[in-house]
Amino acid sequence: MSVIELEDVVKRYDSGGEVVEALKGVDFSLSRGEMVAIIGPSGSGKSTLLNMIGLLDTPTEGRIVLDGQEVTDLGADDRTDHRRDSIGFIFQSYHLLPILTAVENVAVPSMWDRSVDRRGRARDLLGRVGLGDRTEHTPHQLSGGQKQRVAIARALVNEPHIVLADEPTGNLDQDTGATILDELSRMKEEEDVAIAAVTHDTQLTKYADRSVELVDGVIQ
Ligand SMILES: Nc1ncnc2c1ncn2[C@@H]1O[C@H](COP(=O)(O)OP(=O)(O)O)[C@@H](O)[C@H]1O
Ligand SMILES: [Mg+2]
Repeated sequence: MSVIELEDVVKRYDSGGEVVEALKGVDFSLSRGEMVAIIGPSGSGKSTLLNMIGLLDTPTEGRIVLDGQEVTDLGADDRTDHRRDSIGFIFQSYHLLPILTAVENVAVPSMWDRSVDRRGRARDLLGRVGLGDRTEHTPHQLSGGQKQRVAIARALVNEPHIVLADEPTGNLDQDTGATILDELSRMKEEEDVAIAAVTHDTQLTKYADRSVELVDGVIQ
């Protein structure tokens, strides 16, 4: 069963009279336990598609269904609630907070929830991505690959159904990128999440269960 479905999604940006149609009727779905690579040239709509899947923005036309529930026209607050509960994010430049330790960074998305031992989960996740001995290090004491492992752990801390990654290996050399992709696909299995990763990296498409190519706002 799909965790998220986009049906005939159109996204238009209107910037000062000039209208750009970034997505032109896109159908897309993700299932738990699968990694999908989203590829395509610069400006083809990859980040826009990721923003739709991540409920960071609303479509101009079409429908979005998350876990069987229509979320197309929800307001910003409701979308934030769904995002926090269901979706984790990984970015090219890690987006770690420099003054926090690794374990604190991982726990950040779960700060609002006092009902469970999120720090315990943060420590557990760091151990599982090979950073059990780096939990008290701050980002500047970590390599690029280690920072991206912290970001993977952070993306998983709230037990999301979906993890979205925009160029997760974009700042890493080939070998480090490969270890990060290994880590991502292993965590995908262990946590039974759906992963959508935007990439220029042909290496990533080898780890993906399927690839989707966007050209000028259309899936090929
Ligand atoms: N916030 C925005 N306002 C106006 N135009 C935008 C905005 N975001 C993206 N676009 C335009 O939409 C198209 C697709 O952009 P994007 O989704 O960022 O592509 P990609 O990630 O594949 O490079 C481009 O023409 C881009 O200029
Ligand atoms: Mg982009």
